[in-house]
Amino acid sequence: MDCVVIGAGVSGLSSAIRLLEAGHNVRVLAREFSPDLVSDVAAALWYPFLAHPIEKTDRWGAETYTELMRLGEEEPMSGITMRFGREYLREVVELPGWRKDITHFRVLESGEIPEGWIFGWEFESPIIEMYHYMPWLLQRTRDLGGIIEENEVEDLAEISAEVIVNCSGIGARELCQDTEVKPVRGQIIYINQDPGFGRFDQQPETLTYTIARRDCTVLGGTAQSDDWSLELRDSDRETILQKCEAVWPELDRSKIIGESVGLRPSRSEVRLESEKINDTLIIHNYGHGGAGVTLSWGCADEVVSLIEESYE
Ligand code: BEZ
Repeated sequence: MDCVVIGAGVSGLSSAIRLLEAGHNVRVLAREFSPDLVSDVAAALWYPFLAHPIEKTDRWGAETYTELMRLGEEEPMSGITMRFGREYLREVVELPGWRKDITHFRVLESGEIPEGWIFGWEFESPIIEMYHYMPWLLQRTRDLGGIIEENEVEDLAEISAEVIVNCSGIGARELCQDTEVKPVRGQIIYINQDPGFGRFDQQPETLTYTIARRDCTVLGGTAQSDDWSLELRDSDRETILQKCEAVWPELDRSKIIGESVGLRPSRSEVRLESEKINDTLIIHNYGHGGAGVTLSWGCADEVVSLIEESYE
């Protein structure tokens, strides 16, 4: 089938790759490309965060975990490595459903939990270095025969294709008048220091993370809903540092090398569904919140399945 994918972020390119692998013709249309996308600001660690509904995100997340791990082993240029991390919680909660789908998960002993938290777990997870991964996704799309075009789509009706895959992220607000899509602002800091294992508190109100990449560690974070500002804020920087110091007292502020900000495309639920407008099948695949990378391959596989189902 002739497919047009709108958006060249991680969801758009993963969808494009799966469509090409399934034998479809694919054109990717996007207003902006890496390195100017929110995908480029992603920290990025596999960890279901700020995305719903849980029954679906657990499944898409598990499928993506397996694929990211495979890419890390078989495709060194993709920039994926596996690391251990520890999640700290301020209350005892039900263990996450995805724990059975990953290579390592265990509840922490009380002596392993810093003061101020009472519960937690250790997990192993892929770390995705987006400055390697985004170029790798683009190259893989091209190698499979995908066409990539800079083109700002303002109306789905202007596209002539049998299938349109809408991966416009926050752009879905204008493109399909979906006011449910809202930014959740995230500010991060880059530091030239390795915490050994990652340390996390992933509750949106207290969001804290130290994500150890090979080039640096990413410190976060903020989760400010409906905040469109792309300016760095001194107050956020200070809050992030104080939160990270609480889980990583050895953090050395003199080793900070940069910072960044991005707007997560959040929605009450990920929109992954099809609709038919005239003769065109539209598959919507957006609203992944803080889990764009974490859900990417599971969602891309479902895009292909939705096309197959509609033409059965
Ligand atoms: C974030 O959106 O900031 C995030 C998502 C997953 C893991 C860590 C951070």
